[in-house]
Amino acid sequence: MAIIYQIYPLSFLDTNKDGIGDIKGIIKKLKYLEELGAEYIWITPIFKSPMEDNGYDISNYYDVNPIFGTKEDLKELIDTAKKHNIKIILDLVLNHTSTEHDWFIKASKDVNSKYHDYYIWSENPPQIDSYFGGSAWEYVPSVKKYYLHMFSTGQADLNWKNEKLREELFEMINYYIDLGAGGFRLDVLDLIGKDLENNNLYDRELLLKYLKELNEKCFKGKDIFTVGEMNLPLEKAHYLSKNEILTTVFQFNHIALDEVAGKGKWELKKLELNDLKEVLNNIQQVYQKGGTPSLFWSNHDQPRALGRYLNLDYRYYGQTMLFMLMYLQKGHIFIYQGEEFGMSGLGLVDIDKYKDVEALNYYNIATKTKSKESVLRSLAVKARDHARTPMQWNNTKNAGFSKGKPWMEVNANYTEVNFEKDYNSDKSIYKFLKKLLEIRQNNTTFDKGLFKLVVLGPHIFAYERVLDDNYLIVCNFSDKKQPIIDLKGEIILNNYDSLDNQLKPYQALLIKRG
Ligand code: GLC
Repeated sequence: MAIIYQIYPLSFLDTNKDGIGDIKGIIKKLKYLEELGAEYIWITPIFKSPMEDNGYDISNYYDVNPIFGTKEDLKELIDTAKKHNIKIILDLVLNHTSTEHDWFIKASKDVNSKYHDYYIWSENPPQIDSYFGGSAWEYVPSVKKYYLHMFSTGQADLNWKNEKLREELFEMINYYIDLGAGGFRLDVLDLIGKDLENNNLYDRELLLKYLKELNEKCFKGKDIFTVGEMNLPLEKAHYLSKNEILTTVFQFNHIALDEVAGKGKWELKKLELNDLKEVLNNIQQVYQKGGTPSLFWSNHDQPRALGRYLNLDYRYYGQTMLFMLMYLQKGHIFIYQGEEFGMSGLGLVDIDKYKDVEALNYYNIATKTKSKESVLRSLAVKARDHARTPMQWNNTKNAGFSKGKPWMEVNANYTEVNFEKDYNSDKSIYKFLKKLLEIRQNNTTFDKGLFKLVVLGPHIFAYERVLDDNYLIVCNFSDKKQPIIDLKGEIILNNYDSLDNQLKPYQALLIKRG
């Protein structure tokens, strides 16, 4: 089971004082990451891009975005990381390109160009909404047609039905494998199976065909870690991992539990622990039959779990409890930058603090029908910006992230919440996580053992892992004390110094039994 650390390069570490994190900044921190226990680092896209969607709009797959560095820097990163026993996972966007990609420029000038069919066009488009709000079609007068963009207007969807296009993409992936990449995170991969002729945006048979081809042409027989970002039914995602078509899949059911079902991401409701139990248990049960799920709380699209679900007054206890709850289950572990010392989001702030195209679109559209206050409240909980603020390394200017003017405001809590302070404290989240990862990696029960939910109370998330050893994990998911029955066994890990007859706020325990 792998330990993967996710880096959002814009906000990781800036070494050239332009206010933007860079590849050299990542190289500088490889030792830090090795020490924590990372075996892979996943870096969100660093390719050439106009940055309409922060790199998820690639205009040249073969070029590195100069704001991050050069191709040589990337090669140096891959090679230096190897010396630290870390492999690099590149983030590839195969569902769409930027409209500034050469293919799109040619495609939108000439219907006879071979590139025209690399994209999805319509003269009479059916009504489809883009994920970022508004219509998913944009008109191009020069060809008198609309192109499809499931995300921003600058992100044109590729036509995977075109065999030449698929070949070009596979060739590009193999180029990065030859360059030494250790894996790929594949962006919105569930969207490539489109069959618009038959009005089907999500043709699962077509998707499987493309995924098998991708595996065959790029990954098969190679030591390459692949993770597809895919909104699929659990059984379908499981099938892909079990049959090694992809190493694992990102699914989002467990982090959509604070949304009103069917109303999109902005209609909020309180997370119910029972719902979380049900979703995570279902995943674990399905993967008992083989394959490996992914374990994560946050990423660059998902605001940090700490402030989103828990009371920030208990930062150390809350964050360590979240780790215990998630990372002793079966799965590949994904840690999002800053979680290792308890970073949190910006909270309720005005719209001028937001940078993300999704947040700004939502604000502009939603304030037409809703009060500004309620829109800002939704943004405070769910906007992607909250996960994207610069890393808080120490309490110096700009939290040690940059000596220039940061591209995005540093969270004002950085004098209190930063790596250095955490590391030097006797209650260090980083050190707790490191220990947890060591325990996990040295015991196959956590990889291969049975997973069983244990009922201990409505506010307690408890589970057993059983193989040769028998472990009980007990997590108080509330900021109130919780009564418990006598927990017998040897305490291996406890985020408090002791255990009484009540669990303390967010107390989490790993107990070895029998
Ligand atoms: C994925 C990325 C997200 C991006 C979207 C469109 O969900 O994680 O950041 O905006 O795809 O590429």
